Amino acid sequence: MSRRKKILALAATGIFALSLASCSADAGTSGGGGDDAAAGAECNVGISMPTRSLERWINDGEQLKTLLEDADCTVDLQYADNKTDQQISQIQNQVAGGAKILVVAAIDGEVLAPVLAEAKKQDATVIAYDRLINGTEDVDYYATFDNYKVGQLQGEFLQTELDLANATGPISIEPFAGSPDDNNAKFFFSGAWDVLLPYVESGVLVVPSGQSPASNDDWASIGIQGWASDKAQSEMDNRLSSFYTGDEKVDVVLSPNDSLAIGIIASLKSAGYAPGADYPLITGQDADKANVKAILDGEQSMTVWKDTRTLGEQVFTMIEEIVAGDEVTVNDTETYDNGVKVVPSFLLDPEVVVKDDVQSKLIDSGFIKASDVGL
Ligand code: BGC
Repeated sequence: MSRRKKILALAATGIFALSLASCSADAGTSGGGGDDAAAGAECNVGISMPTRSLERWINDGEQLKTLLEDADCTVDLQYADNKTDQQISQIQNQVAGGAKILVVAAIDGEVLAPVLAEAKKQDATVIAYDRLINGTEDVDYYATFDNYKVGQLQGEFLQTELDLANATGPISIEPFAGSPDDNNAKFFFSGAWDVLLPYVESGVLVVPSGQSPASNDDWASIGIQGWASDKAQSEMDNRLSSFYTGDEKVDVVLSPNDSLAIGIIASLKSAGYAPGADYPLITGQDADKANVKAILDGEQSMTVWKDTRTLGEQVFTMIEEIVAGDEVTVNDTETYDNGVKVVPSFLLDPEVVVKDDVQSKLIDSGFIKASDVGL
């Protein structure tokens, strides 16, 4: 019997429900799908990912598709080239094609309400994947990494490396933030800025470009639209050429993710920076291969690793539960308010990777191959 058929058979006998109750004892559960979830659902899944231009989304999509197809689900996986209209029409097509479960990593978290309302007309269950979908009742669950913690790990890394608690400064820092339309970006920034802002206020850290949000709420003023590497590069070019004339050097760049770090590194290189004593600390997120290579080469200091395989597995578990008509396992029912409701969420733990961890954390676990990063 296939895994899915087994799930359905067990659900029918009630055994599955019992085993789920014991599995989720420490995680908490929430049935957000109402009567429909209780009745179970056909395993017909539409997956909508933002773009193929970033390694992580390719891995995320392919992995979840494989897990679902191995369980005999019908799957339609689409990538939207970071274009909101394209994502909306792809989801419309999935709904028209009979999708009963939608897994959506939103490009713009604010614009999907109408298409999700369409999906609800055929009782689809909607899972926000990695990024929250805002302004709608029609999102049932959210699975992601702890986004605030991602930023906090970046801030704490810099705090420790620079021994900020004992430093007198001034240490120059250039902060960047993610795409203003991505709900995650404000969490990343807040996590980092809650650690770093007190040092900016005390003068230990200085921001020569003046691109220093006075509070977490101002984060979007330094956001890089679409998380684009080339936009981060030209922003860094502007800051370096306007504010680092003469002998001034930038000591630290707070980059929220790896795609921005790639642009920032390219800008530093063209301004004559080379790894060594005067090279700045640069943060990142995702453990993309190019960035892991940059870490090994001394061009990037760290990345926050989110093992996207665990996110895919968690969403697969959610889908198994929805298909079985059981309560869906979540572990956070407070953090993610989308403006209409608090969306029941499952948060996974991100972790820091530095040069010395590349082998033990990324390669030994099979997340990347040694040959991908020149080892
Ligand atoms: C994801 C990050 C990713 C960024 C750019 C965010 O929503 O959480 O992992 O780096 O989007 O794609």
